[in-house]
Amino acid sequence: MKAIIEAQNLHKYFGPIKALQGITVEIPEGLTLILGPNGGGKSTFMKVSLGLYRPTKGTVRLLGKDPWRHPEARRGIGVAFDPGRFPKLTTGREWLEFIARVRGANPGDVEKAARLFGIEEALDRRIDGYSSGMLKRLSLAQAFVGEPEVVFLDEPLANLDFESVPEIVGIIKRWKERGRSFVIISHVWEPFEALADYGVVISGGKVYLKGRFHEIRGQIGAMFRPPEGS
Ligand SMILES: Nc1ncnc2c1ncn2[C@@H]1O[C@H](COP(=O)(O)OP(=O)(O)OP(=O)(O)O)[C@@H](O)[C@H]1O
Ligand SMILES: [Mg+2]
Repeated sequence: MKAIIEAQNLHKYFGPIKALQGITVEIPEGLTLILGPNGGGKSTFMKVSLGLYRPTKGTVRLLGKDPWRHPEARRGIGVAFDPGRFPKLTTGREWLEFIARVRGANPGDVEKAARLFGIEEALDRRIDGYSSGMLKRLSLAQAFVGEPEVVFLDEPLANLDFESVPEIVGIIKRWKERGRSFVIISHVWEPFEALADYGVVISGGKVYLKGRFHEIRGQIGAMFRPPEGS
């Protein structure tokens, strides 16, 4: 089994802010859930792993390569950041075609990804007219365009209504069954429970818990249980 991410003593500081303080973890193929409190360092870990930020100290490998020195390691990887940010005057189609070209995908893949997430009718509208749910769907389509081998999703269920949750989880399930790997950051983790192979809890810039998901499931449940009486 190949590792998607291998981090060794990974640190990331932003001036005085110590966002990551010695993360050591090996994220395997399959579906990994990254959980933890607000401000814990989850999104920073994802960005350093993708080569968007240079580590302050320590090392990270993405599919075996240093993503800062070897940006080509990202070629087979789809990403949706949270919140999704887009150039607002462009249309959904222009944005997705831009992403498809960067990834070496065909323009035809744009329609396919838009259909997958139900935004094909909005493709030729300007992004500044999209609702927050449509923006989330556009960012998911961005991550899936060209059918990458590995998909990173930061909060894929944020801003979606209740009915959309099983729809999006179902798409991820189908793609996982086709051999795609996922690294998913989500505060709402229960819908992914049955799909998760590996789990990492990041808190205070450190790995608080990691392991095969079914083995750490009990500890995660206890950690994120709502307070008594709520
Ligand atoms: N580019 C940046 N410049 C300065 N500080 C940053 C930057 N990115 C993140 N931080 C800080 O690093 C810490 C970790 O942030 P991060 O976004 O990684 O947390 P998170 O676990 O994703 O939180 P959330 O659940 O709220 O999304 C926070 O204190 C945040 O303010
Ligand atoms: Mg975050």
